[in-house]
Amino acid sequence: MTRLPAIHDRDLATGRAADPAAHARAVRAMFARISRHYDRLNHLLSWNCDRRWRRRAAARLDPGTVWVLDLCAGTGDLGLACLAAGRARQVVAVDFTPQMLARLAGKPGATAVRAVAGDALCLPFRDAWADALVVGFGVRNLADPTAGAREMRRVLRPGGQLLVLEFFRAEAHAAGPGRGPAAPVRKLLAGLVPCVGRLAAGDRAAYTYLPESMDRFLSAAAYRELLAQEGFADVFVERLTLGVAHLVGGRRPLA
Ligand SMILES: C[S@@+](CC[C@H](N)C(=O)[O-])C[C@H]1O[C@@H](n2cnc3c(N)ncnc32)[C@H](O)[C@@H]1O
Repeated sequence: MTRLPAIHDRDLATGRAADPAAHARAVRAMFARISRHYDRLNHLLSWNCDRRWRRRAAARLDPGTVWVLDLCAGTGDLGLACLAAGRARQVVAVDFTPQMLARLAGKPGATAVRAVAGDALCLPFRDAWADALVVGFGVRNLADPTAGAREMRRVLRPGGQLLVLEFFRAEAHAAGPGRGPAAPVRKLLAGLVPCVGRLAAGDRAAYTYLPESMDRFLSAAAYRELLAQEGFADVFVERLTLGVAHLVGGRRPLA
């Protein structure tokens, strides 16, 4: 079992990793290791809610959207959900772990997806190219979420939509720390996920990362604020399944 200290060492206020290069290396190595098990464990650990959350994000896309960039695409399920919902005509799936992207091949709809190996913090695309940009459980893994938002804004066309699905840090709750409606589910995840990860994928460290990284990332409200500061308009937050996950979105302004 390998611990992943580089991933956890980040500034709680900004979400920035203390050592971005070491963080990226550790994230890539972790996803390469678990790529074979990723889809199955996602569905199992979320009781299939992950599928519903992706469908919800896809349903938010403007009808008639043509080019969708699926960032931190992993095995491609969010881009595929956009295609299945009839809300995207073409998807470009970008990820810096080729082993994850390789799992996309053969899935229904995958022929309308172009897989591109690339870093979300330095995208290999020209400015203002994408009609919409979706990110499923990816921004929490970035070494610098502010730099990530800047890069997303750069490649989106003016008026283009951004939709981010994520497990954010729990918001402070009036009833006290760790007392929100999703707190029991999060507690259960923190105990259960590493055990299931060890049994099903033989990788307790990677599956300890999931609950731990939620607590070390920004809250949904802080991420909404970050997007607004980085120039996104119409920024919103939608709670999913009592706040276990959130959908945060906005648009690159027309002007
Ligand atoms: C939790 S998986 C999410 C996969 C998929 N989007 C989903 O909905 O299940 C996170 C993915 O982000 C990718 N990733 C993390 N940091 C990245 C970066 N800087 N650039 C590109 N991909 C990155 C990882 O390789 C991994 O495949």
